[in-house]
Amino acid sequence: MTQQTGLEALSTESRRFDPPTELAAAANVKAEAYERAAQDRLGFWAEQAGRLQWETPWDEVLDWQPPFAKWFVGGRLNVAVNCVDRHVDAGNGDRIALHWVGEPEDDTRDLTYTELKRQVCMTANALESLGVSAGDRVCIYLPMVPEAVISMLACARIGAAHTVVFGGFSSQALVDRITAAEAKVVITADGGYRRGAPSALKPAVDEALERCPSVTNVLVVKRTRQDVDWVEGRDLWWSDAVDSQPEEHEAQAFDAEQPLFLLYTSGSTGKPKGILHTSGGYLTQAAWTHWAVFDLKPETDVYWCTADVGWVTGHSYLTYGPLANGVTQVMYEGTPDAGGRDRWWSIIAKYGVTILYTAPTAIRTFMKWGEDLPAKHDMSSLRVLGSVGEPINPEAWMWYRRVIGGDRCPIVDTWWQTETGAIMVSPLPGVTSTKPGSAMGPLPGIAVDVVDGEGVSVGETGGGFLTLSEPWPSMLRGIWGDDERYKDTYWSRFEGQYFAGDGAKWDEDHVLWLLGRVDDVMNISGHRISTTEVESALVSHPKVAEAAVVGAADPTTGQAIVAFVTVKGDVTDDESGAEGFVTELRNHVAKEIGAIAKPRQIVLSPELPKTRSGKIMRRLLVDIAERRELGDVTTLADPTVVTQIDETMGKLASKS
Ligand code: WTA
Repeated sequence: MTQQTGLEALSTESRRFDPPTELAAAANVKAEAYERAAQDRLGFWAEQAGRLQWETPWDEVLDWQPPFAKWFVGGRLNVAVNCVDRHVDAGNGDRIALHWVGEPEDDTRDLTYTELKRQVCMTANALESLGVSAGDRVCIYLPMVPEAVISMLACARIGAAHTVVFGGFSSQALVDRITAAEAKVVITADGGYRRGAPSALKPAVDEALERCPSVTNVLVVKRTRQDVDWVEGRDLWWSDAVDSQPEEHEAQAFDAEQPLFLLYTSGSTGKPKGILHTSGGYLTQAAWTHWAVFDLKPETDVYWCTADVGWVTGHSYLTYGPLANGVTQVMYEGTPDAGGRDRWWSIIAKYGVTILYTAPTAIRTFMKWGEDLPAKHDMSSLRVLGSVGEPINPEAWMWYRRVIGGDRCPIVDTWWQTETGAIMVSPLPGVTSTKPGSAMGPLPGIAVDVVDGEGVSVGETGGGFLTLSEPWPSMLRGIWGDDERYKDTYWSRFEGQYFAGDGAKWDEDHVLWLLGRVDDVMNISGHRISTTEVESALVSHPKVAEAAVVGAADPTTGQAIVAFVTVKGDVTDDESGAEGFVTELRNHVAKEIGAIAKPRQIVLSPELPKTRSGKIMRRLLVDIAERRELGDVTTLADPTVVTQIDETMGKLASKS
């Protein structure tokens, strides 16, 4: 990576990579798609919906009662049938759907579409036998095993909505989500593998369920064969409940607006929001974007999305998009360094992966590990590379292109959100000339704008807030049980426009650059965590008086959590005592939210820097956390507070 920094990075904004002619000629989507969609946006989306199998066609493409949308009104379909059965019916049952790769070496499973169908049907039967029916909610708390995908599809098949909770979240986070969703059944595992060792999952469920009366049954996948506690009558092994079920399941078609899933995500205030997605429009856009953005050739491609099913990327681009398109994909259970820091590259070589979709934080980690590791493997099968989750810095983009893509694979930097359901902004391979670090522009059928603080468009060039100015098929249908919050959060900042919460600018060529969140949402390794959520976790500790949390720039994870905490009573002067307390606080946050929310640093301070009117000066805390020269502090009530905090931070930073 040595030559990829400095001057090269500086020149990237004006630098472009044109698609090679052969690619342009063979690409799925041609430049005309933009024109076509601009002339008739709804007609364009209706054509894309036509790629799916509908039992009953829709009467109306869009019913828009701002900010509430219904897409493909009157249409009926079954999402699971679209993702599985129709590929079997089309004669592709022998095609591999999942090459599953477990973390322990040689622990692999291949599932064809026929086998996937069998498993989904049996699981659907099992859920029905537990009393789950259309309209119910099922919570899925699983590691990256095929049963995660199978469970999601089984819910979809019977019209129940799933809410997947990332396995890294704590039992407290599970309680919040299960309670809010009133889930009937939880699907979990004894444990999963994490960096070579089995780690437990079921204890978190057991603990959570003491406070979740809505749950009647727990299905437990046997993955690690750890000992587990068992509640008779409530808990069932997956193998007992599923394997004995009939292999056929007659799927019913549901309304296009049937809830498909809830996915909880952090916002700038309060508890995580249950983002609601429904069926027809969501699947249309997930499938179309997956096909177009990755230039997908389902007969020949081997696609690999490295996201966990617990995040929206694992929903739209591991489960629904790829399976709706009938492609073969890799699903990997473990961490990038399990079995060696070149594990990913050996997987790509083994399965002949052609499309890789991952996050900038992973790329930056691999840059640190060195380019000799990917160089050991034959990755000539790769042809398209994707990035998602946070802005990709030009250095990482160039490294991805050169070292992983052999300077021949187009990179698609895809901007979207849990709320948007599917990719909104991205180049198209074969069509768009790309600039390193830029997501380029909206996809066909998508209308974005960049507006100033008053909601006025900045025009062709200039910076401001990213908004979406027209409804789109996979848009969230609301926040579960809270229409007011839905309106307030997304539709009230700017009249008639969806406020994404991201800053953006058009450059002199009218190319779009995403600039990160403009609210209190941090982006840690591509995961959304809000500052207020971590602050609430910290102040729930009996010894904490006040806490301020900021996201500080981090060379690998994009941002890192830094917390400034004042303590009730005496803060011990004893070095190890304070250190011990900091460890206790970090663990407390992990218990309240999950290990992903553990602050990188916690600075104990007798006071927090406040203005004379009592407002915490967050900007200043960011400067302190990022070790920048501090500007004007004269507006502070007590400027000496800052000097003290800055010194403590300096000591912590030099230690780490
Ligand atoms: C950020 C993940 C810049 C952004 C799919 C957004 C990005 C938030 C990009 C959504 C990108 C995602 N460039 N920023 N290509 N992709 N983001 O809901 O701040 O987990 O608002 O969805 O991630 O995160 P979420």
